[in-house]
Amino acid sequence: MSLIHEIDHGTPRSKSETMVTLTIDGETMTVPEGTSIMRAASEMGTAIPKLCATDMVEAFGSCRLCLVEIEGRAGTPASCTTPVMPGMVVKTQTDRLKRLRKGVMELYISDHPLDCLTCAANGDCELQDMAGAVGLRDVRYGHEGHNHPNPGLDESNPYFTYDPSKCIVCSRCVRACEEVQGTFALTIAGRGFDSVVSPGMEESFLGSECVSCGACVQACPTATLTEKTVIEIGQPEHSVITTCAYCGVGCTFKAEMRGNEVVRMVPWKDGKANRGHSCVKGRFAWGYASHKERILNPMIRESIDQPWREVSWQEAIAHTASEFKRIQAKYGRLSIGGITSSRCTNEETFLVQKLIRGGFGNNNVDTCARVCHSPTGYGLSQTYGTSAGTQDFDSVEQSDIILLIGANPTDAHPVFGSRMKKRLREGAKLIVLDPRRIDLVRMPHVEASYHLPLRPGTNVAVLTALAHVIVTEGLADEAFVRERCDWDEFQDWASFVADPRHSPEAIAELCGVPAEDIRAAARLYATGGNGAIYYGLGVTEHSQGSTTVMAIANLAMATGNIGRPGVGVNPLRGQNNVQGACDMGSFPHEFSGYRHVSGDETRQLFESLWGVALDSEPGLRIPNMLDAAVDGVFKGLYVQGEDILQSDPDTRHVAAGLAAMECVVVQDLFLNETANYAHVFLPGSTFLEKDGTFTNAERRIQRVRKVMPSKSGKADWEITLDIAHAMGFDMHYAHPSEIMDEIARLTPSFAGVSYAKLDAEGSVQWPCNDKAPLGTPVMHIDGFVRGKGRFMVTEYVATDERTGPRFPLLLTTGRILSQYNVGAQTRRTENVVWHGEDRLEIHPHDAEQRGIQDGQWVKLASRSGETSLRARITERVAPGVVYTTFHHPGTQANVVTTDFSDWATNCPEYKVTAVQVMPSNGPTAWQADYDEQARQSRRIAPHVEAAE
Ligand code: SF4
Ligand code: SF4
Ligand code: SF4
Ligand code: FES
Repeated sequence: MSLIHEIDHGTPRSKSETMVTLTIDGETMTVPEGTSIMRAASEMGTAIPKLCATDMVEAFGSCRLCLVEIEGRAGTPASCTTPVMPGMVVKTQTDRLKRLRKGVMELYISDHPLDCLTCAANGDCELQDMAGAVGLRDVRYGHEGHNHPNPGLDESNPYFTYDPSKCIVCSRCVRACEEVQGTFALTIAGRGFDSVVSPGMEESFLGSECVSCGACVQACPTATLTEKTVIEIGQPEHSVITTCAYCGVGCTFKAEMRGNEVVRMVPWKDGKANRGHSCVKGRFAWGYASHKERILNPMIRESIDQPWREVSWQEAIAHTASEFKRIQAKYGRLSIGGITSSRCTNEETFLVQKLIRGGFGNNNVDTCARVCHSPTGYGLSQTYGTSAGTQDFDSVEQSDIILLIGANPTDAHPVFGSRMKKRLREGAKLIVLDPRRIDLVRMPHVEASYHLPLRPGTNVAVLTALAHVIVTEGLADEAFVRERCDWDEFQDWASFVADPRHSPEAIAELCGVPAEDIRAAARLYATGGNGAIYYGLGVTEHSQGSTTVMAIANLAMATGNIGRPGVGVNPLRGQNNVQGACDMGSFPHEFSGYRHVSGDETRQLFESLWGVALDSEPGLRIPNMLDAAVDGVFKGLYVQGEDILQSDPDTRHVAAGLAAMECVVVQDLFLNETANYAHVFLPGSTFLEKDGTFTNAERRIQRVRKVMPSKSGKADWEITLDIAHAMGFDMHYAHPSEIMDEIARLTPSFAGVSYAKLDAEGSVQWPCNDKAPLGTPVMHIDGFVRGKGRFMVTEYVATDERTGPRFPLLLTTGRILSQYNVGAQTRRTENVVWHGEDRLEIHPHDAEQRGIQDGQWVKLASRSGETSLRARITERVAPGVVYTTFHHPGTQANVVTTDFSDWATNCPEYKVTAVQVMPSNGPTAWQADYDEQARQSRRIAPHVEAAE
């Protein structure tokens, strides 16, 4: 295997459709208008020497190394900043150019320390390469960098170092931070020879605005900005293309390796979701894979108060199967079930639901999408006929208006957040509906036209008011609606929203947003050009989550904003493979491809291939499994890669359900919170240790490739296979590609998917079948999947969760950039430097009323429970609203969330909890207990008995 080397064409690709023909070094070349001479030459195989140019940022023209001669023009223009022209005749290699380039390189090298042999970038340094490329043999005025400004090494960032002594002030890092990441953390301070790159106002990288995305490190041509792992381990010697296992953006990376050790993860330029960019999690936070707390051997125990006992794989699998069989013999076929993982691959998820439907003989399978995007599935299938977002991420580049609802992309979907910021800097307008003032409301070079800080729980009222304005002011796209939607249903809906009780004025007090802002936002969305809606869990995790999704779908249809690039309805999916887990049949009522289990034709298709009779009755959802456990009729659970005790609402109820079961099998990387109630622990494998596919938020199916052997000896799909065999349900696959072949045979929207196609194309977006052999970037182009688009009446129903004298504030929850979900992975990386604990954001007014100081411990109490955490006083939240993240088990924000849920899908109402906040002296009693238990559980490994 060799290092996958991506060609750097020096300047970005031009998107023009007009072509230009020119001659370079005697060869004729045709390229899009706007292409630089440097890129045109590179595309025909001629690498013009360069230092300040790289194709991830616009050309700057400062180093003067890339000079060329153009017939009929005086001088030697820089090829990176000179666009091609029709008929142009260019020479890239003449004696004059060689002489000039040598002179430039001589100046650079004279100002650079000559310690190449011991430099971490030795072999991967563009300065070295260029010295070779121009044939530099001696340096007349060599100072070895002694006169170079050197404010000292900055090692404050946990993942990369900044060594200004090696900086050539090409400003590639500054431009990457601005153009690619959109953070504007870096500047060039000083002038002339005193110029130096500076994070913020002479701060360290850690103390600056830097969000550690790594774009500057990637852009740096020298060892100035270098990954610490490269310094420690050395240069990689081979690389493998794979997909990030954190969020639903699905960034593609080159895992650069030395042997079986990851040296660094570098975002892959050809990755169609990320286009060469990354965030701190995918780029740097992969160290959890080798964390000392990872469990590598299977363990069992008779009851949850006993210590774990390490056993062989054989014993663990046999025990699991015999326990599940015993329970079913005693309590019946429906007494066991399982939960698939949105962190695992499509193939692994497919196998778990197959085991449950075929091996357990019931449909008691559910997935964590239950607690996040199940309303998306319901709402979009009701209105459009399919359960997924309508666009690819590239689509945002053609949006004029972005309506962002209940999502915080710069924290939760950072690479897409950066792409969105870029479009906003280009002039697109932004409307934010969010109770909290997220970063996008106002940040460097981005400012929302409208921020509607609605009261948590009032989404439907506000969206219906937006529709009211669109309909009553005649802003609907009647031609689109007549052609593409059910006209009768539109008229019913239009007369419903036009009712004065849905006007902005009528609901302003209820939602806390001025009526004129709602009116102005509606007008902007309806008339501003291509309007795209992006939304997140702030939409779905409500008692009216499904209604809100339908209200969003209505808005897009009514304004004709569906079925072409730049528009659409786009759920930003949380976990890496939550889309895939839903696609693969993880819900109790659906087979893969969202087909109901009661459909005879579909069921028979599965029965004939799997060789078993399948149940036509939908099974239990996660909350119903837990209820049934408390009622004593549900006794066994197989949980692959989820931590329901921490991620599901009403922690006490989850604990009671788990405690009532006789066999809980947890398959995961670490002893998670759910494992406290487990009888069998099966060690899982990381994305680095297995083959498979993930499907991201834009329906893009991408390969996950094994870069190292599994540390526990088995990939997760192999474990499920073993359990199936032990239970007498035979499944045979030699490789995950064979599982995908079966998925394709059984699932119309995946019919054209195979590993061979994914390897050839890089990725495809489903539907991928005979009609769309290379996939479908934008859906509903000629018609909705369900035929005519269906408008749904969205009556606002207030949540039963109300504030009152005991609980006067509303709590809403969210994520932070450096952490991921329950934090099991990111808390075991250096990312904890940015977020070591969950904090409670509270408005200064509410804090003052309660005598709360910034940083002080406060008690957060609801009718479900209480926890303590430290306060952060901020105007990001409105008076009456408090906010926290849920990344740390020591806080367990879900102790306070309630058991209210979406009426259609049971998705919990995480985003609205009535709470009280008061000063406290520190952690609550259960948190102190938890800390003690956590300390003990860390000692589990030495306590376990040796495997037989
Ligand atoms: S790591 Fe990212 S955010 Fe930080 S300075 Fe570099 S480009 Fe900017
Ligand atoms: S740190 Fe690297 S990319 Fe930035 S100016 Fe210096 S050499 Fe160029
Ligand atoms: S944006 Fe998401 S997929 Fe991309 S690197 Fe970050 S966590 Fe991974
Ligand atoms: S690469 Fe063109 S001026 Fe630097």
